[in-house]
Amino acid sequence: MELFKIITFFCLISSVFSVDLYGLRSPAELVKVNSENGTITPIGGIWTHEAVGENVGCLDSKNGIYYFMGTNMETKEIDLLGVDVHTADMKYKIPTTFVTEEFVGVAQIVQCVEGSDDVIIMGRDSKYENKHNLVRVTPQTNAWKELNQFNFVDPLGGGHTLSGETVWVELAVNASGKFTHKIFGFDINTGKQTFEINDEDYFTTGLNYDKESGMIYGIGIVPQFTNRAIMQLNPKTGIITKLFDIPSTYFLAAPPTTINPNTNTLWLIMNDRKTDEPWRLVTFDFDKQTIVNNANLCPNLKDCIRGLEYYDI
Ligand SMILES: *[C@@H]1O[C@H](CO)[C@@H](O)[C@H](O)[C@H]1NC(C)=O
Ligand SMILES: *[C@@H]1O[C@H](CO)[C@@H](O)[C@H](O)[C@H]1NC(C)=O
Repeated sequence: MELFKIITFFCLISSVFSVDLYGLRSPAELVKVNSENGTITPIGGIWTHEAVGENVGCLDSKNGIYYFMGTNMETKEIDLLGVDVHTADMKYKIPTTFVTEEFVGVAQIVQCVEGSDDVIIMGRDSKYENKHNLVRVTPQTNAWKELNQFNFVDPLGGGHTLSGETVWVELAVNASGKFTHKIFGFDINTGKQTFEINDEDYFTTGLNYDKESGMIYGIGIVPQFTNRAIMQLNPKTGIITKLFDIPSTYFLAAPPTTINPNTNTLWLIMNDRKTDEPWRLVTFDFDKQTIVNNANLCPNLKDCIRGLEYYDI
């Protein structure tokens, strides 16, 4: 009886712990990542398009589609691409008039609307003199609804997430040469700007909405860019709180992060900036408020994954 209980307990622990996350690496390839040991398994490649932008994707768990921004290597056109998460077959290709920034993927977002077929995208658009264009797309019907256009500054992190009817986007404002880091909220039906939060202390990025707690989690940079911290943004009040200082050896690389709301787990890709150590997949438990796993992921950043998504099935 006791042994049975213990075995059940460990089975539960390990089944919770080890899940397949999904991601992209370059040249464009959809991969699976074992959350416990960081093993990367290729699913398939999308060879006409390059996907070097970091964290410019989302997984539509309802339809099993991984969406991302890809650049056609011949025409340089930027398309919203939707691939089958199990086979990597390209199901949707929605052309845009978005332009590439100096760093590919900067200024772009791709955010799946949970429980719907729609995807919210943003990019600097040549149609609007390279201003940001926020658009709601229904890939199944080719519907393209422009929500808002604006012209802010693009921080490298480019964090974004969606809670209820609000899409949250990390942007900065330039007032006569003084830059203020902000997180904006826009209504996904009307495009109206509903939040403008000052975030000068933490530069919060890697945003992820957790539907269980109703909170947004992310990574902050504290202080003077030396350390990292787990941050919480309350989407009802717009208040940003520091939850946990990540030990100084962990350094944020690309901001791909994702959440499993069922186990209150946040995954981050980090490394030790003081050495040439591999990039690691770090698991943060935001119930226990501590790091619970730390797996080797990639020997170097160049070959590492560009996006990380939890498949909520
Ligand atoms: C990682 O875990 C998966 C699933 O448990 C297993 O199939 C795989 O062999 C493991 N890889 C390594 C390198 O241990
Ligand atoms: C910020 O504003 C200043 C003054 O208005 C301008 O000279 C500068 O080019 C702007 N920088 C960016 C990155 O927009």
